[in-house]
Amino acid sequence: MSVQATATEMVAPGKGILAADESIATMSARLEKAGIAPTEDNRRAYREMLVTTPGLAEGISGVILCDETFHQSTSDGRPFPVALADTGLLTGIKVDTGAEPLAGAPGEKVTEGLDGLRERLAEYASLGARFAKWRAVIVIGEGRPTSRARRANAHALARYAALCQEAAVVPIVEPEVLMEGEHSMAACAAATTATLLDVFAELREAGVALDGAVLKPNMVVPGKSSGERADPEQVAKATVGTLRGAVPAEVAGIAFLSGGQPVIQATENLAAMRDFEVPWPLTFSFGRALVDPALAAWQGRPERVEAGQDALADRVRGNAAALTGGDMV
Ligand code: 13P
Repeated sequence: MSVQATATEMVAPGKGILAADESIATMSARLEKAGIAPTEDNRRAYREMLVTTPGLAEGISGVILCDETFHQSTSDGRPFPVALADTGLLTGIKVDTGAEPLAGAPGEKVTEGLDGLRERLAEYASLGARFAKWRAVIVIGEGRPTSRARRANAHALARYAALCQEAAVVPIVEPEVLMEGEHSMAACAAATTATLLDVFAELREAGVALDGAVLKPNMVVPGKSSGERADPEQVAKATVGTLRGAVPAEVAGIAFLSGGQPVIQATENLAAMRDFEVPWPLTFSFGRALVDPALAAWQGRPERVEAGQDALADRVRGNAAALTGGDMV
């Protein structure tokens, strides 16, 4: 199938993407925080609980996995990509290997993972991966982001995206401008615009087909420690305005990350975007805003799998409703 057809499926009307691709270290930390032993099998059982949620495919087009989960199986013996395909869900795979300090740019990072990526993508594709994800992180504050950090990350994103398309895998291009900091909403808008302009310049330079790629940006929000408040209408207006100024119309779709926003706030901000005309399908590719309530409800206890699944189903319904105009809570 062409990357264009897959990308269209990923951002189908009323559907979002579930980001369940936390690294082993991040997932282990989240399990521990929830009082659950951070073992390989608990990470597996948690992901099995999520992806076997009844009716998941009604509001979700695909699930992003990390390498560990990609190679694990559900308790009935099906590899995760097969279990996803059986329920009508596309399999995504996070292929970056994390953000490392960028030389010459104190306090900023560049995302790594290009070495051997062609071979890894070919293997993932042969095992059922239909799309991939690479996340760059951009920080705001004290002269940051620098052009050096933006461009290094944009270049890596473009090389990754070109390699994905070569393997018939849709790249999710995720340049996340972090919420952490005391910066204003206007500073977030400016950093997001500068970042996106650099990203699309590099994507074009690398020959990436934009209609076969999905952008996963942050929403434009005030810094977490800024004391500034923005209601959903303000967030939607600033976000859509920023995207209109920087994202080419050919991009197959835009799927927002939640970035640590409170669960319901992320949904309300998403819903407020419906009031704006934009040239791309807009949807969600949330991690925490979809799964946090499910992790809390599950507690790592087999007898609470249904409670965890109910919590996930509730947030999937809420966010799907944000896209189509139904009851969100
Ligand atoms: P959050 O929605 O928790 O930000 O996660 C999305 C994601 O995939 C981050 O890379």
